[in-house]
Amino acid sequence: MSKVWSNRFEKGLNPVIQRFNASIEFDINLLQEDLDGSIAHANMLGQCGVITKKEAKQLVDGLEKIRSEASNGIFKGNLLDEDVHFAVERRLIELLGSVAKKLHTGRSRNDQVGTDLRLWLRRQIDEFDSYLKRFQSALLNQAEEHLHTLIPGYTHLQRAQPLSLAHHLLAYVEMSQRDRERLKDVRKRVDICPLGAAALAGTSIPIDRRQTAKILGFSKIYANSLDAVSDRDFTVEFAAAMSLLMAHLSRLAEEVIFWASEEFAFVRLTDRCATGSSLMPQKKNPDVPELVRGKCGRVFGHLQGLLTMIKGLPLSYNKDFQEDKEALFDTVLTVRNSLEAMSILMEEGLEFCPERLASAVKTDFSNATDVADYLVAKGLPFREAYQKVGQLVKESLEKGILLRDLTLEQWREIDSAFDEDIFAKLAPEQVVASRLSEGGTGFDRVQEQLLEWRRRIEA
Ligand code: ARG
Repeated sequence: MSKVWSNRFEKGLNPVIQRFNASIEFDINLLQEDLDGSIAHANMLGQCGVITKKEAKQLVDGLEKIRSEASNGIFKGNLLDEDVHFAVERRLIELLGSVAKKLHTGRSRNDQVGTDLRLWLRRQIDEFDSYLKRFQSALLNQAEEHLHTLIPGYTHLQRAQPLSLAHHLLAYVEMSQRDRERLKDVRKRVDICPLGAAALAGTSIPIDRRQTAKILGFSKIYANSLDAVSDRDFTVEFAAAMSLLMAHLSRLAEEVIFWASEEFAFVRLTDRCATGSSLMPQKKNPDVPELVRGKCGRVFGHLQGLLTMIKGLPLSYNKDFQEDKEALFDTVLTVRNSLEAMSILMEEGLEFCPERLASAVKTDFSNATDVADYLVAKGLPFREAYQKVGQLVKESLEKGILLRDLTLEQWREIDSAFDEDIFAKLAPEQVVASRLSEGGTGFDRVQEQLLEWRRRIEA
């Protein structure tokens, strides 16, 4: 029979209920944070004179012993412990005897679990910044190779205007930067210490909450003890930031998937990241981006799960909160793995096909806007120029020719303002080079962006 409950309990739990109730199988993940939190708490109790300095030292030594036992595989929680907090306390009592029973003075598992979770998540957020940086770096390296490689740009997945491939890749660097900033912002709300709120109302024991917060490196403490043990907003914010990050990865994944198809053939997948078919010997499949796209489902699901878990919960702590852990653990693992896989895909998993891209941008009407802009430069109102070029595109499509196939006489039939210089304007390189508005795809502009990003990534 589990001994963790007070003497109020006479009978043991039904074993099925015991398993149902327990979180030890997954919250053992929080062991390091639980030990850190307890060590800070024990030290504070000693400083405040709630226990003697000697007792505090015994507790800290005992907790460190459990840490080393865990690293040697000697300490493992078991089902009887219910959760990581009880598992540590049980072991501490085995190691130290009755002094160990002083550790839980002035705190509850409610503020304890909130502290553990925040410590754990704060560390994950810090690590994510370097994973995101690696991804940005991989994109930037590709972008630097491809300033002058052109790629069709699309709206509605219809050919629109050609782009510098570097410009296209840098769009994902920008998106990832927003992911980094969002995480930094979420971190501010993770970095608040609930410890000392005790079960819900604070404690009559003369503790010093600021001291434990300081030892644990929190920048603030919760001002309201009820809010401290009831708040799981930060889990939702984190899951939302992770969901957007996954959405970004999934958009790139989708592009890679169709770029690698025979219909596009803009990229070749290298053997490092592609997989074969068990049946069709000619196949090379983009499993990596497909998996990333697919894994969005569970990450978005966790966000929904967390939101739903909180909805309608009365203050303060409710056991429902135990459900936050698996959602967060799986979110971190899934997004970390996806981000790493997409980084490797960008680093060594694909090669752009310059010949194929060059011929793609030459054989369409994606220079039509430039013809309209040409007439605008000669003084025509834009809408009039737009109509003239629209007519021209229609006739060319009917004849099965491109704009570059028209003779000067044919241009002049449309408008007498056309001159020899129209031919140079039609070349895709020129179409790209001319887009020098700030943030545009003009090579000079993109070059500035490449330099700026190189500086920021290396800073
Ligand atoms: N295993 C619990 C959780 O994950 C720890 C806190 C339990 N507190 C309680 N009063 N039952 O939330």
